[in-house]
Amino acid sequence: MKTVMMTATGGADVLAVMDLPEPSPGPGEVLVDIAASGVNFMDIGVRQGMSWLDMPLPRALGVEGAGRVAALGEGVTDFAVGQRVAWVYAPGSYAERAVIPAASLVPLPDNIDDRTAASLMMQGLTASHFTTDFYPVQPGDVALVHAAAGGLGQLLTQIIKLRGGTVIGRVSSAAKVDVAKAAGADHVIVDTKGNFVEEVLRLTHGEGVHVVYDGSGPATFHGSLASLRRSGTFCWFGPVLGGPGQIDIMSLPRSIKLGYAVFSDHIHTPDLLRARASRLFDWIREGALKVAPATTFPLADAAKAHLAMESRTTVGKLLLIP
Ligand SMILES: NC(=O)c1ccc[n+]([C@@H]2O[C@H](COP(=O)([O-])OP(=O)(O)OC[C@H]3O[C@@H](n4cnc5c(N)ncnc54)[C@H](OP(=O)(O)O)[C@@H]3O)[C@@H](O)[C@H]2O)c1
Repeated sequence: MKTVMMTATGGADVLAVMDLPEPSPGPGEVLVDIAASGVNFMDIGVRQGMSWLDMPLPRALGVEGAGRVAALGEGVTDFAVGQRVAWVYAPGSYAERAVIPAASLVPLPDNIDDRTAASLMMQGLTASHFTTDFYPVQPGDVALVHAAAGGLGQLLTQIIKLRGGTVIGRVSSAAKVDVAKAAGADHVIVDTKGNFVEEVLRLTHGEGVHVVYDGSGPATFHGSLASLRRSGTFCWFGPVLGGPGQIDIMSLPRSIKLGYAVFSDHIHTPDLLRARASRLFDWIREGALKVAPATTFPLADAAKAHLAMESRTTVGKLLLIP
């Protein structure tokens, strides 16, 4: 069974395709034939040694995907062999097959194809948590969305729009403007150096935004703070691209709310996971949410997918196809 393993921590060259013995599911687990695996920034963080350090090397990478149940472990009664499923946070997802805890699986309805599901689990659950729990966007709110043409940014933009908000997107190149606009961004600013504040204030008549969604690293942090209106909310979420360093709480704008949002802390039971995934599938069925076709790479080209994501030239979701 082909699996992408990291042989050490480091650059994309530490990724290697290995032939591992066929796995079999233990109690409470399910063996899945993988149709598509999601590529996420957190995989790059794991590869660089930011987390999972207690797992032995070589280490199987990837946490997200969609596929079909191949075998059931003891005690699994809520899935059947042949059923289509998707998941997030199951280590070892860059593979032809993986053993996944049944509690991490979501059943897929017929109208959600495998690639859509594998594109939606991490970024869709994240975007819906950020916009409906962390800061429930209200009609009339103005939001600043960083990396608005990325997989997460496009979904954040669409959910803010369907809740009646206005989106100011920030992207790193002119080539991404049309993608952000197609996702629904009302205004798009091109910037990589943190020089977007003046334009945000101009677009908001000097008031600033109600909420900023920023997972884009240190370069944007202070500009995002300065873009907030009185009592605005800062949803910070990007550890892999780097934090702002130490913050002196006394130096923050008065009365803002600033937090590190992590969807998995809130969507922490199988029932919550399945309910939140179902809501995303409903939005897609109703035409309220669209997942743009992903950029795909053969499983063996996982290193190329990582390099592409790090090059900052990609838009939307990246998937590995076994
Ligand atoms: N807290 C959570 O629950 C959670 C969940 C999922 C993801 N995340 C975080 O969300 C962020 C997006 O991750 P994702 O996997 O969902 O991918 P993604 O949204 O598709 O992000 C890709 C975008 O990141 C931007 N980017 C790439 N390299 C960058 C760099 N060196 N500096 C700044 N921006 C860069 C690019 O946009 P531009 O070039 O246009 O700026 C690119 O479009 C990551 O920081 C990830 O750790 C957090």
